[in-house]
Amino acid sequence: MAEDLHISIGSKQEQYEALLPQIKALTAGESDLIANLANIAAALFQQFRWLWVGFYLVKGDELVLGPFQGPIACTRIKKGRGVCGTSWERGETLVVPDVEKFPGHIACSSLSRSEIVVPITYDGTVWGVLDVDSDALDHFDAIDKEYLERIMQFISPVNN
Ligand code: SME
Repeated sequence: MAEDLHISIGSKQEQYEALLPQIKALTAGESDLIANLANIAAALFQQFRWLWVGFYLVKGDELVLGPFQGPIACTRIKKGRGVCGTSWERGETLVVPDVEKFPGHIACSSLSRSEIVVPITYDGTVWGVLDVDSDALDHFDAIDKEYLERIMQFISPVNN
């Protein structure tokens, strides 16, 4: 049985530092991709209470909605579209301080004000993205980028 997540307090960096080994332990003993993505979304949501946190998975020329926490969301995003599709196309993390200023931003929720999207790769190929939305402007920074990129390295799309 899974242990309860230990919710930490302190600076954002301290919170990530406490969360990282827990997510690593949570995913290390499980080879199923969807199970791991679901628990990572839940752990991040429990710790940070963002508006929305979840995954989109590459299927053909689209991203398709995967495990997430938060309000219902768009189910399909074309390559190069919105923040998620652009992150996939470029293969790089995008930090968007004001979604209204991002050309082509896809508003799944009118409450979303800022966003970070981290591509997830295997052998140099993007197979999915982590998307996090906040109802506050300018919510994400280099600390989120660093730790979320590190957490994404725990996930393997194979062996499932
Ligand atoms: N805003 C994203 C779409 C996904 S939702 O926010 C959950 C985008 O522009 O790619």
